[in-house]
Amino acid sequence: MNGYYTGITVVTAVDAQDRPHGLTCNSLVSATLDPPTLLVCLDNRTGTLAAVRESGAFAVNLLAEGGREAAEIFASRAPDRFAAVKWERSPSGLPRLVDDAFAVAECAVTHMHTVGDHVVVFGLVHDIDGEPASPLLYGMRAFTKPSHPPPTDLVATSQVSGRR
Ligand SMILES: Cc1cc2nc3c(=O)[nH]c(=O)nc-3n(C[C@H](O)[C@H](O)[C@H](O)COP(=O)(O)O)c2cc1C
Repeated sequence: MNGYYTGITVVTAVDAQDRPHGLTCNSLVSATLDPPTLLVCLDNRTGTLAAVRESGAFAVNLLAEGGREAAEIFASRAPDRFAAVKWERSPSGLPRLVDDAFAVAECAVTHMHTVGDHVVVFGLVHDIDGEPASPLLYGMRAFTKPSHPPPTDLVATSQVSGRR
């Protein structure tokens, strides 16, 4: 799959003690439009998956092209990854990356299916906030940027719109 390019996200959640967790994730799929549902595949050894299980909620932070350092931090074993980025809690309490994400989708878990060493987590999107921007990409085992700027007529997203 090395040649398959994806966007990059940081999936965040809070555990039962309200501590933030987050990991770099490129297994995001826009699964269904009605109801608006995303899925992510999380390694069953990750602390972030444990927090998602505990809280039943997660946020998908879509990284902008300048978010490479954040992607590397949230893919590392650094003990306090949130200390290295600017972040805030949304009104529902989920961590949002303020400078590195161009959009954030907040989800309530609807289904979880274990497949081998990962869990496929489905989330009903109840809030989207952000501005169109050039995204960070990953492929050929490297982070990269789009070779063309995004179109200028994209509209900002501030609610669940039903568009992909
Ligand atoms: C480009 C990239 C994509 C990744 N995608 C995923 C993914 O989709 N699911 C996953 O579980 N881990 C993924 N990882 C690995 C996690 O980010 C990494 O294991 C992280 O340290 C787990 O953190 P945690 O155990 O504290 O939650 C990815 C790493 C990189 C570099």
